[in-house]
Amino acid sequence: MLEQLEKIRQEFAEKINEADNVAEVEKLRVAYMGKKGALTAVLRGMGSLSPEERPKIGQKANEIRDYMESIITSRTRELKEKELEAKLASETIDVTMPGTKRRVGGLHPLNQVIDEMKNVFIGMGYEIADGPEVEYDYYNFEALNIPEGHPARDTQDTFYITEKILLRTQTSSVQIRVMENKKPPIKIICPGKVYRSDNVDATHSPIFHQLEGLVVDKGVTMGDLKGTLEIYAKSMFGSDVKVRFRPHHFPFTEPSAEMDVSCWTCKGEGCSMCKGEGYIEVLGCGMVHPEVLRRCGIDPDVYSGFAFGIGIERTAMARFGVTDMREFFENDVRFLKQF
Ligand code: DAH
Repeated sequence: MLEQLEKIRQEFAEKINEADNVAEVEKLRVAYMGKKGALTAVLRGMGSLSPEERPKIGQKANEIRDYMESIITSRTRELKEKELEAKLASETIDVTMPGTKRRVGGLHPLNQVIDEMKNVFIGMGYEIADGPEVEYDYYNFEALNIPEGHPARDTQDTFYITEKILLRTQTSSVQIRVMENKKPPIKIICPGKVYRSDNVDATHSPIFHQLEGLVVDKGVTMGDLKGTLEIYAKSMFGSDVKVRFRPHHFPFTEPSAEMDVSCWTCKGEGCSMCKGEGYIEVLGCGMVHPEVLRRCGIDPDVYSGFAFGIGIERTAMARFGVTDMREFFENDVRFLKQF
């Protein structure tokens, strides 16, 4: 039996030297010292030994067990350290390597301007309204006092889907849709795309953006219109700008006006930005025509209102000093990332 024990010890010693990872060492532990292990089997068989043999064999077996345990512990520690070292070496980060550049997108300059405009009007209690870009002739023209054959249609030629359905030429169509669905008080703005069959050049595009505004309530006056739009101008272009209203004509407002803002570049002196005028036109506006109110079921003897339409490209061009409108639609990242 002593021989058998010695053989087990030798065999174990050889195998543990060959084991080159923690899992293999654990396998050996089970194979020798586990419940069904080789050494365990010997220890179990001790009951059948004679009383003289038992202490000798017992001592030897205990020695071997202690030996195995200590070797397993030291070998495991050794191998764990090795594994950690290998892991650290393979995961080394070279901080001097150039990183992967992630390019971050940004808001389009037109959307930046739209957001600013929205903020100004939301601050004055306006709600945001929406309407379709593919629109009925009725909402785009007819209901806004622009019947068939009216000369105002010539300046707003557009793309027709059918004879009665078109791409809207102005966000003013949303005025009608809002008034049909909601009774006063009404206080909305509607930013959106509009279309006209214009040839592309530095100041024209077949698609552009407008921001429409509409207020209808009892006792709304031209004074409210002027005050509101003056606050808008000062918020957008600076508190020191002056505004000027010039009489104009729009079929759906009476009286109608265009609003100019004193040039924020030259402060009204005259420069290339304002083409020497000192003022820059920024929007059309007026008191909602009684006929338009009546058509939407609102009694013009009880209610009155004002409306305005702001050209967004025009505002963005002035704002950012862009001289060619085409830049906004060409999606050239070198242009866009300036904003
Ligand atoms: N819809 C007009 C245009 O496209 C702009 C406009 C003028 C809108 C006066 C209005 C307004 O609401 O009252 O030229």
